[in-house]
Amino acid sequence: MKIGVFDSGIGGLTVVKSLLENQLFEEIIYYGDTARVPYGIKDKTTIIRYAIEAVEFFKNFEIDLIIVACNTVSAYALDEMREVSSCPVIGVVEAGILATSNALKDKNSNILILGTKATINSKAYEIGLKMEGFYNLQVKATGLFVPIVEEEIYEGEILDAAFKHYFNTTATPNAIILGCTHFPLIAQALQNHFGKDSILIHSGDAIVEYLEKTFNLNTKHKKPKLEFFASENPEALKSIAKKWLKL
Ligand code: SIN
Repeated sequence: MKIGVFDSGIGGLTVVKSLLENQLFEEIIYYGDTARVPYGIKDKTTIIRYAIEAVEFFKNFEIDLIIVACNTVSAYALDEMREVSSCPVIGVVEAGILATSNALKDKNSNILILGTKATINSKAYEIGLKMEGFYNLQVKATGLFVPIVEEEIYEGEILDAAFKHYFNTTATPNAIILGCTHFPLIAQALQNHFGKDSILIHSGDAIVEYLEKTFNLNTKHKKPKLEFFASENPEALKSIAKKWLKL
């Protein structure tokens, strides 16, 4: 299967990492809209317009499936993308909700939802989790984590200050949804902050769980073909991909 992975920038590489670790696809085409990142501070109309443009970009390749790695796009633009796409389009929000629900036995479990301002304002995770019977939710827009991660800061004083800023009154949750592609890179720091009992829900792992259930992915692809495209500075994307994906 040949797939396209769309993200607002480089963060979606965390989803590609999970796809590669699980050897699910024979060809992956990554497109990061690096010229216009971040999407998490933009309005719905703009996010939908950019997402439709990404579908048009993928029409240059004969792909079988588009995975939307960006939580912000997954929260706002999936229906519109599906309307213009000739292949299925799946997003990380639905997968994250299912993974959370599968991971938690007790419906009273406390879930901390983290995301960009746009993702949190969309209430996509909140609505989905309530439909699964989870009402004990803490919700936080933690947009500062995006530039911190882009600066390749994954621990230390600056991150600790951001944790203090956002989590001063946050109770220790049973599960934390890393509702932005960048957040898996600070997963260890979050785990240290909240303790080992909080389960972390990672979009990449959630999408793998979802794909394995939804599609018949029996064959393992040890050496998939990878191609990286960016709307600005593709060389920078390729160099980060080499580092993060250990290519
Ligand atoms: C962003 O573009 O603001 C972050 C990506 C995401 O929401 O996952």
